[in-house]
Amino acid sequence: MTDKKYAVRARDIYKVYPNDIKALNGVSLNVDYGEVLVIIGASGSGKSTFLRTLNRLEEINSGSIEILGTNIFNKKTKPTKLRAKIGMVFQHFNLFPHLTVMENITIGQIKVQKINKKNAVDMATVLLKKVGIVEKADVYPEQLSGGQQQRVAIARALAMKPQLMLFDEATSALDPEMIGEVLDVMEKVAKEGMTMIVVTHEMDFAKAAADRIAFMDQGKITEIATPEEILANDNNSQLKQFLSKIH
Ligand SMILES: Nc1ncnc2c1ncn2[C@@H]1O[C@H](COP(=O)(O)OP(=O)(O)OP(=O)(O)O)[C@@H](O)[C@H]1O
Ligand SMILES: [Mg+2]
Repeated sequence: MTDKKYAVRARDIYKVYPNDIKALNGVSLNVDYGEVLVIIGASGSGKSTFLRTLNRLEEINSGSIEILGTNIFNKKTKPTKLRAKIGMVFQHFNLFPHLTVMENITIGQIKVQKINKKNAVDMATVLLKKVGIVEKADVYPEQLSGGQQQRVAIARALAMKPQLMLFDEATSALDPEMIGEVLDVMEKVAKEGMTMIVVTHEMDFAKAAADRIAFMDQGKITEIATPEEILANDNNSQLKQFLSKIH
């Protein structure tokens, strides 16, 4: 039985890599429509692996995942169709270097969604305004700063009209002065009601934008609560230790 009540419903996810590395060791999680969930946790705790399982970039050993009311392991659910509904922004911006900013944003709409070029350009222009770099439409990625490239990556993901956005340390490769501009865009997208799962250690962003924060430790979610509750947590010594390190 699928449950349309949740945007994401993961049950008992296990993922074991060769050499018996238990990257996900029984993860269960519900994410509401419109919810912003931030995931924190030490390096190697399974955050990226978890995000990657949600759009089947990573297969799992056992468990069940429903996205937007659809069982993603159902044979009828094609990974490409699933991924069309999910926008993903990684640590390293993966823009096409040989395409302009405008072409980077419109290529998916034109080639995959078969939207005509004028409409695609119009929509991309709106998105470029939203991320604050409409004046860069005709330049190539190498002519942009890291923060600007990451904002184009967000605009490109939004152009596909995703119903869920996944961010995996989208700001951690950026110079400090560019982190804020990317987080501002992410916060704006969150405020517009997008369902988001965001792996980040930017706690100011989490406090401002997250409905809940999940703490991962050794392949498990060991705490999940509001930002206030997570930051005030006094029982989970791993969480306390983790928070003291990132502050
Ligand atoms: N392709 C892979 N093959 C083998 N082991 C892997 C692979 N990808 C991840 N792992 C292992 O799985 C565990 C979880 O990795 P994952 O990348 O999900 O952690 P993470 O929480 O995202 O860490 P970080 O904060 O460093 O990005 C780690 O022990 C990692 O070494
Ligand atoms: Mg990671």
